[in-house]
Amino acid sequence: MTDFRVSRFADAEALASAAADEIATRVDAGLATNPRFSLVLAGGDTPRRAYELLAARHARRIAWDRVHVFWSDERCVPPIEKDSNYAMAREALLSRIPIPEANVHRMPVDDAPPAIAAEEHERQLVAFFGNATPGFDLVLLGVGEDGHTASLFPGDAATREKKRLVVAVRTEAKPPPWRLTLTFPVLDGSRDVLFLVAGAKKRAVVQAVVADHDAAAKRFPAAAVSPRGQLDWFVDAAASV
Ligand code: 6PG
Repeated sequence: MTDFRVSRFADAEALASAAADEIATRVDAGLATNPRFSLVLAGGDTPRRAYELLAARHARRIAWDRVHVFWSDERCVPPIEKDSNYAMAREALLSRIPIPEANVHRMPVDDAPPAIAAEEHERQLVAFFGNATPGFDLVLLGVGEDGHTASLFPGDAATREKKRLVVAVRTEAKPPPWRLTLTFPVLDGSRDVLFLVAGAKKRAVVQAVVADHDAAAKRFPAAAVSPRGQLDWFVDAAASV
């Protein structure tokens, strides 16, 4: 990781607005020098507004046919259920931009048992990146109040995975229990990571990261994410006072 920045915003709306434009800026910069751009979408609720603004402001300006979209993690529920990270992104972003279906790489959670689905998505990532180690251009991530990110929960075996790219996780920490998640080898092999963190429930994690990032990394998976390039935490006032 070369650079770590925390940017504070007055509220969740200001954070979402800044995030939408920052994502567009990163995509434009990537496409200026590369034929395609690989973007990982965060799950949960926080990113929804940023996705809506990204679509509203940049649907026609960005060459979406050169952008490939993936997910940091996915709940093992049907892709039309409200709990689905895919369904949220479909509604807030993908249905509002001219992105080809072939560029949307949904985690195949509805096809098979979680462990099989994880192996299938790993094959999809290897096929997309070729023999190179998968390294996304930009990974968007959220943070749980326990410091998890994607579906990498504190103390869970998945946080110690060093080889697999995608694993199945069963957790009591946040429903629904079964999930697929990208692992640290993939998150840390990516170029840039942008965390979107809003709300008072995340304050303890944000304060620990700001106070001592390295120490926080020992406690919280979110703080342990260390990409090859730029690491940004966008936080609102409620999460950072
Ligand atoms: C998930 C997410 C998870 C999420 C955080 C924050 O599938 O639940 O990937 O890591 O980003 O739990 O969720 P909120 O944005 O809803 O607070």
